[in-house]
Amino acid sequence: MGSSFPPLLPPQASTVAVEVDALYALLVSITAFFTLLVVGLFLYFGLKYARKSESERPIQVHPPAWLEIAWSVVPLLICLVLFVWGVQLYFKIYTPPKDAITIHVVGKRWMWKVQHMSGAREINELHVPVGVPVRLLITSEDVIHAVSIPAFRIKRDAIPGTMTTTWFNATKVGEYHLFCAEYCGANHSKMGGTVYVMEKDAYQRWLAGPNAGQPPAVQGARLFEEMNCISCHRNGSNQRGPVLEGLYGKTVALKGGGTTTADDAYIRESITNPTAKIVDGFEPLMPVYLSQLSEEQVNALLAYVRDTLGKAERPKDAPAAGTTPLGSPTTSASPKASESKGR
Ligand code: CUA
Repeated sequence: MGSSFPPLLPPQASTVAVEVDALYALLVSITAFFTLLVVGLFLYFGLKYARKSESERPIQVHPPAWLEIAWSVVPLLICLVLFVWGVQLYFKIYTPPKDAITIHVVGKRWMWKVQHMSGAREINELHVPVGVPVRLLITSEDVIHAVSIPAFRIKRDAIPGTMTTTWFNATKVGEYHLFCAEYCGANHSKMGGTVYVMEKDAYQRWLAGPNAGQPPAVQGARLFEEMNCISCHRNGSNQRGPVLEGLYGKTVALKGGGTTTADDAYIRESITNPTAKIVDGFEPLMPVYLSQLSEEQVNALLAYVRDTLGKAERPKDAPAAGTTPLGSPTTSASPKASESKGR
């Protein structure tokens, strides 16, 4: 501040920033130390042992065993320290806390479209509360982009057809840069904006301000009816798909063995590419809705399945979606079953 010399690093404005910078500083120091050591010794020995006459022949020197062991073990230990520190920091950066609030981010040439779960929308801006973990669910409408917020030390690709996650906990009220960090065409360099970190009550006021809109979960509930999702996913005799109440975050058994977690990426995939993973006990009957839905609509359905149905009580008589082996729904509609029913 006050200096005309630009800072070497962006401000440290998230809970991981200090640690990322510390690891980075250690890497740079170790690299600088060994570069200077090797170049220095190279020059020093080059001068000291330069051949003085044409007839001079070098003496063969065999270094002692301890020295050979030392210059193998010491670098190994240094690499292990960097590895262990890097891994634990990586998991910290890529594992959102359970209590994080969710914000949907969609990349599109050449803008970032942001939607808050209260319904507020914004473009090329991201308003977040200070001191609250925020989870970004990121996807793209066209090509690969990448959300980058240097002050938070986070960067995550926005990939069409899938959903990625990143999170941060901002520590300082202020304005920070938002960038696209993946070359995406002519206006890539202009694809960015500002992150506004606000006090919690100011953030609440902002949510209710001019940017407010219909919550995605409400929009999703309407789509769920309109697209007739409800006819197959409702518990009852016509049920053809898993019941979605209480599904979010649960372990789902898949047809042909294996399990998956019903997280955001899985639910999104199940909407846009339903045959990718079939829940145990069900048939791949669901149509592909990808071409009929915009990314915003997919996100709205996702919000509904996650925030409304996901927290709802599972119907008492409903078999848990794939969490226990189910009789295939086709069984009850098979001639045998209806026969026995008829009698
Ligand atoms: Cu989007 Cu670069």
